[in-house]
Amino acid sequence: MSACIRRTLDKEVHAVTPGLSIMRKLALSEVYQLLEPGPVVLLTTARAGRANVMTMSWHMMVDFEPPLIACVISSNNYSFAALRRTGECVIAIPAVGLADKVVKVGNASGRDLNKFAAFGITPRPAARVAAPLIAECFANLECRAVDTRMVNKYNLFILKVVQAWRDPAQKDPQTIHHRGYGAFAVDGETINLPSKMR
Ligand SMILES: Cc1cc2nc3c(=O)[nH]c(=O)nc-3n(C[C@H](O)[C@H](O)[C@H](O)COP(=O)(O)O)c2cc1C
Repeated sequence: MSACIRRTLDKEVHAVTPGLSIMRKLALSEVYQLLEPGPVVLLTTARAGRANVMTMSWHMMVDFEPPLIACVISSNNYSFAALRRTGECVIAIPAVGLADKVVKVGNASGRDLNKFAAFGITPRPAARVAAPLIAECFANLECRAVDTRMVNKYNLFILKVVQAWRDPAQKDPQTIHHRGYGAFAVDGETINLPSKMR
């Protein structure tokens, strides 16, 4: 590495460009706060007749149709073993009105507690998987794990949506997006621009 590049790496600020503000170094531990896509969702599982729910924000779309979704679920979570064993879950999408409950769900474990009863969340039978839908959420996606090859390395499951539900009574729901440590951005204004992207 040249001395010049090394100097730039060691500095706390990037080279100053006239007319533009200074770029400051960002801790690598904070990068996820910029890129977590959201919306924050609830993920339900059911194992041996016992349903559970966790909060999840590390997910991304992988394909349009059938919809494939990649999800990172920590192996420390009670939900992890249930999803791994049954291969089934529901991704339920809450609007901002449920934010308080979403955070409570994400700060407790189904190992110790029935989170549905504790936080007033209503499970409803799903059509194609044993994991329940959540009645208060504006959308519910019944999912099956279709690729678990990256679970051991990254706790990453590829899920296929096999049935999707939408609550027509919840019009223009505002989703919540995790910014780290209890901070959330709330979905806002929609702008329309000419674009070829589906
Ligand atoms: C806003 C928020 C986002 C979260 N995102 C994730 C995530 O993407 N993956 C994950 O494994 N845990 C995530 N968690 C933590 C789990 O929801 C938490 O560990 C949960 O209590 C696990 O529940 P369980 O033990 O009943 O499965 C998140 C928590 C919060 C509050």
